Amino acid sequence: MDIWHIRGGRRLEGACFVQGSKNASLPIIAASIICPTRSELFNVPQLKDVDAALRILRHLGCSAEQRGGDVYIDSSGLSGSAIPHSLMEEMRSSVIFMGALLARCGEARLSLPGGCQLGRRPIDLHLSALKQLGAEIEEDGGEIICRAAKLQGTEITLPFPSVGATENAMLAACRAKGETVIRGAAREPEIVALQNYLREMGADIRGAGSGTVTVNGLRPEASVVQRIIPDRIVAATIACAAAATGGNVELRGVNPEQFSTVLHFLNQAGCDIISTNRSVRLLSDGRLHGVGEISTAPYPGFPTDAQPVLMAALLKAEGRTVITENIFENRYRQVPELCRLGADVTASGKTAEIWGVECLHGTALTATDLRGGAAMIVAGLAAEGETVICDDGHITRGYERFDMRLRSLGADIYLEY
Ligand code: UD1
Repeated sequence: MDIWHIRGGRRLEGACFVQGSKNASLPIIAASIICPTRSELFNVPQLKDVDAALRILRHLGCSAEQRGGDVYIDSSGLSGSAIPHSLMEEMRSSVIFMGALLARCGEARLSLPGGCQLGRRPIDLHLSALKQLGAEIEEDGGEIICRAAKLQGTEITLPFPSVGATENAMLAACRAKGETVIRGAAREPEIVALQNYLREMGADIRGAGSGTVTVNGLRPEASVVQRIIPDRIVAATIACAAAATGGNVELRGVNPEQFSTVLHFLNQAGCDIISTNRSVRLLSDGRLHGVGEISTAPYPGFPTDAQPVLMAALLKAEGRTVITENIFENRYRQVPELCRLGADVTASGKTAEIWGVECLHGTALTATDLRGGAAMIVAGLAAEGETVICDDGHITRGYERFDMRLRSLGADIYLEY
């Protein structure tokens, strides 16, 4: 059990670098097996999910190790196409191994993935995309078996721009014969990052970042070197913490464009934002005001992953904010915990209504999920007195040495393992 101890009320001040992106690293690690190749990845965050992905690679017969922020993979020894349930259940994005194994071996056997309990998280769009590329899929008591004697390029239209389904389709399409056009593709920066990696690997792929991604096979390179992009959700979380504490923080090595919708609402709430193409400075006097309406949407809309942390930043903002959560059906699990700090938030269905309160008071909380837990940290930093968050490992799945990073900005926080 992780126990976070926070003494709130200190302004965050100073500059910090933001860790590499978890959600960019994981699909790239899965992609490393689509052909026998060596990959060197830099700026990979040291997180449990990354460790779990590397353990999957080793289970499959690859060599894979992380030294600091560097990950070294050699997938030439891949010898299996089945991932046991114990490894799959550790993280949601293990589902991306389905497209990757299918591409390399023509077969993938795995169980339904784990990850945060954010409501139903079906994989019908993943399966449908792989079927359209020629895979046959059997489900047998929780195990999914995908087989394709041959993958054939085709036109795939995703009815919703699912990030994971787009990634699975891109990976399988790299080893398909002929051209694949994925319409209705997710446009997240992590999709562009995956495309960049696949190009280095020798794939003929273009269009990521738009709604249409076109893939035309792959001529494998022997080795790939790739730097992982900064984590836009961690950047958004630190920006929200700075806003909530009346802080003055510079985030370095980030691409502000990638979390501009979050910065937009922080600016609406009364913060000054000064951006360059590699950094953002956020200045807050701590007197925020409600921002009206926020709706989560696929990129370039407001990210669902930043919803809980922005909510936390606005708990003391004068007036009202209404959030509509359009991506996940169970993403307000942090609300009852935030109310225990004295917040005035009501959540019902897709909507949450926040009325700013004068003051939050620290107390004991339980982290519900990764971003919900991060929201509790943001709220705890803005609360008077001590907040203690008991966490069954959710927060450290996505935030690397977060206590140290916040301490370097002046926060009084430490993590007891
Ligand atoms: C990824 C991110 C996650 C983020 C989410 C949305 C990773 C490792 N995780 O998750 O942090 O919150 O994007 O930005 O990158 N859906 C279906 N059928 C499917 C697939 C998805 O109905 O086959 C639905 C989901 O239930 C959800 C919505 O589509 O309601 C979005 O899911 P998706 O974009 O696939 O998210 P993930 O790839 O799981």
